[in-house]
Amino acid sequence: MCGIVGAIAQRDIVPVLVEGLRRLEYRGYDSAGIAVLNGSGALKRVRTVGKVQILQDAIDGSPTHGPIGIAHTRWATHGVPSERNAHPHISDDGLAIVHNGIIENHEALRAELSASGYTFTSDTDTEVIAHRIHHHLKKGGTLLEAVGHTVAELEGAYALAVVSESDPERIILAREGCPVVIGLGKNENFVASDIAALLPQTRTFVFLEEGDVAEVTRTSVRITDRSGKPVERKIHESELSADAADKGQYAHFMLKEIHEQPRAVADTLQERVANGRLLEAAFGPAATEVFAKTEAVHIIACGTSYHAGFVARYLIEQLANIPCSVEIASEFRYRSPVVPRNTLFVTISQSGETADTLAALRLAKQAGYLSSLAICNVPESSLVRESELVMLTRAGPEIGVASTKAFTTQIAALGLLVVALAKSHGATPEQERTLVTRLVELPGIIEKTLALDPIIQDLAKRFVEKHHALFLGRGTMYPIAMEGSLKLKEISYIHAEAYAAGELKHGPLALVDDDMPVIAVAPNTDLLEKLKSNLMEVKARGGELIVFADPESGMKSSDGVTVITMPKHVSYIQAPVVYTIPLQMLSYHVATARGTDVDKPRNLAKSVTVE
Ligand code: AGP
Repeated sequence: MCGIVGAIAQRDIVPVLVEGLRRLEYRGYDSAGIAVLNGSGALKRVRTVGKVQILQDAIDGSPTHGPIGIAHTRWATHGVPSERNAHPHISDDGLAIVHNGIIENHEALRAELSASGYTFTSDTDTEVIAHRIHHHLKKGGTLLEAVGHTVAELEGAYALAVVSESDPERIILAREGCPVVIGLGKNENFVASDIAALLPQTRTFVFLEEGDVAEVTRTSVRITDRSGKPVERKIHESELSADAADKGQYAHFMLKEIHEQPRAVADTLQERVANGRLLEAAFGPAATEVFAKTEAVHIIACGTSYHAGFVARYLIEQLANIPCSVEIASEFRYRSPVVPRNTLFVTISQSGETADTLAALRLAKQAGYLSSLAICNVPESSLVRESELVMLTRAGPEIGVASTKAFTTQIAALGLLVVALAKSHGATPEQERTLVTRLVELPGIIEKTLALDPIIQDLAKRFVEKHHALFLGRGTMYPIAMEGSLKLKEISYIHAEAYAAGELKHGPLALVDDDMPVIAVAPNTDLLEKLKSNLMEVKARGGELIVFADPESGMKSSDGVTVITMPKHVSYIQAPVVYTIPLQMLSYHVATARGTDVDKPRNLAKSVTVE
């Protein structure tokens, strides 16, 4: 997704902007640009297609310096990736803007501006905003006022940062639907769409809220809300260090993040359970009251986070005996939900900024749910700030676009939710102790599973030339199969599908031949025998079967069947996390063997802040 960085200081801020863009690279982008007001207030812009390094080379070839500037990485929505569509966009008199989001009424505004003499040099919705601000500025008033008038006319989502030759001592910001943060420094201030961009400069941040417009100078920050009233927004100190986003000894962030899972899951459980008990501090005292009233749970999320929610659905119904439904946020947000009495609304998100999930939360607030709980990895995110109850997943920054540790920590956090709901619905202390003990054992079992890496790396060679793969599972392993298939397709570009194994004979079996690898996840659960029968259906059609199986499953490698033995005694609540690990490793090794860009797969963005 697009990224914004800006700075106002007494020093040359170009290195700050470029470093900030590099730190946002993980979000996914196709072009980059920078606009700087030099010491005498003249604007200079450099834009390039491709990596931030290409922008750096262009800057080196055309020296650009100055104390105020804005920069951007663009992920194309309106208009192809090209230099002319890259941000910043400029209007007359040296007014420059960077923008994340989508303006829905851009066509009408563009027509009006064209009629009044503005010429457009790009296909973007952003250029419309630049000209609109200039149009208001021409009529008199300050840059801040011109931005305020403009955003009142915009429909859609935006985070924007504006600088102008006419008012060269400030950066103006606005937020509606896309995150933007101000980093506070000493006699210098910074702006960005993600705090990761600013961590080398500051750890002190102010987050704009929906509808806010802000004026940032070297020494001051002034924020007004949607109605134009001055407001104070809370100052946050981030605990993240600047090197939290470093891949260290690993070849890719994804590999590092896969190996961080024992620690990440342990951190998620830490100080939330003790002596076989779930502590009240885990969800906070307000949650205890909510859980006691909860008669149903409705989970909303996107992508990998949706798969975590799908796992939770099985766990909540089986272990807490409470009805639970799970839904994709982009679907939920456009229907009129009928909410059963006392339903807890749960959102799951790594970033906490996914546009569809946030919109779903906002809709839910009007729909009569009992309360809202966010399971999220980013403490400062919009989702966390707008939810009534919060459980942070403590995975640490996840840079690889393909979610790994964020997913397993979500399942661990959802495991805690299962315990909390079971407890408030009559589970005995003994049942609580068993569930908590199983969760606490997870980091050790993940370590053991990671030791399968050399076998999986070898197995991955068989996929290099494949075009399709099928993932199968039953019960909680069905969403794990879905996650395995998503991982493989997003980073290796091999088409993969997941099916509940019982559905095989209702259609997908027709795809099975000796060129179609079929991957199954087979822990020792009540459904194991059923799954084995389904796998026999594949074998009988000459399909190539790869099964990650419990040692007591009774399954053995044979002609056309490869069984990889997983750690023993993996319980029902542990299996979703443990059986995810080999699927992550498989997709990683297939992708590296195929030479794809593992951490930044084509066309994808880490944080999907537009609809
Ligand atoms: C999966 O690997 C992706 N990163 C993607 O499906 C992701 O889970 C989805 O976009 C939701 O993101 P969120 O968890 O930040 O809301």
